[in-house]
Amino acid sequence: MNEHTLSQRLERVAAHVPAGARLADIGSDHAYLPVALMRRGAIAAAVAGEVAATPFQAANRTVGDNGLEQRISVRLADGLAAIEAGDDITAISLCGMGGETIRDILDSGKAHLNGRERLILQPNGGEQPLRQWLMDNGYQILHEEVLRENRFYYEIIVAECAGPVIYTQEQLYFGPRHLQARSPVFLAKWQRLLGKKQKTLTSFQQARHRVPEEKRQEIARQIGWITQMLG
Ligand SMILES: C[S@@+](CC[C@H](N)C(=O)[O-])C[C@H]1O[C@@H](n2cnc3c(N)ncnc32)[C@H](O)[C@@H]1O
Repeated sequence: MNEHTLSQRLERVAAHVPAGARLADIGSDHAYLPVALMRRGAIAAAVAGEVAATPFQAANRTVGDNGLEQRISVRLADGLAAIEAGDDITAISLCGMGGETIRDILDSGKAHLNGRERLILQPNGGEQPLRQWLMDNGYQILHEEVLRENRFYYEIIVAECAGPVIYTQEQLYFGPRHLQARSPVFLAKWQRLLGKKQKTLTSFQQARHRVPEEKRQEIARQIGWITQMLG
């Protein structure tokens, strides 16, 4: 993967960035996503935010190598603090981090959100708490997809601030759009997870030390939901 050829995962994220967007890519690492989009003429401006020095330097290198310093600002900052008032950001991507980390970045950076940005999120696990944050903060989930690359399943969640919205516990767990679409790759992901959770439950039953009842019940409840959903 580089700024010329994105991974399938980042290519699917790119597909949800509106044409002409002013993008903030937070946790940008090498800044491949904003640089690829700018090279294609798909976005108007971008901020590449990084909290760590080495990826920050890598992002600066990619932007410099492509002569895009005037169009893409690379900033060393924690989360949404990379966004400045005059940036007029219209889309924010947060990709390749755990769902809880993405949630925490959104929550602690609320002051930097203008409420008009599209959020394009690609969590690696932790989708449920991330959807919970979106619901609690009035973000409607417009689109969800799951893709498989290199044996891993990746989720993409696209959301916009649209006022109060209520999702059920099952919708927060599986994804409201996924439940409507029931794509083959979504069903395959949950089929695999079901097997893993069943193994976990069996291992709890065989464990030498007693596993807390709450933990056992939680896994059993999830198995029930997944079985019902797949059924
Ligand atoms: C696994 S990389 C993902 C890079 C790229 N977004 C992608 O999806 O390929 C995660 C990046 O997020 C950065 N990161 C983690 N927490 C962050 C935060 N609070 N603010 C900014 N960047 C953060 C890390 O330094 C790392 O470079």
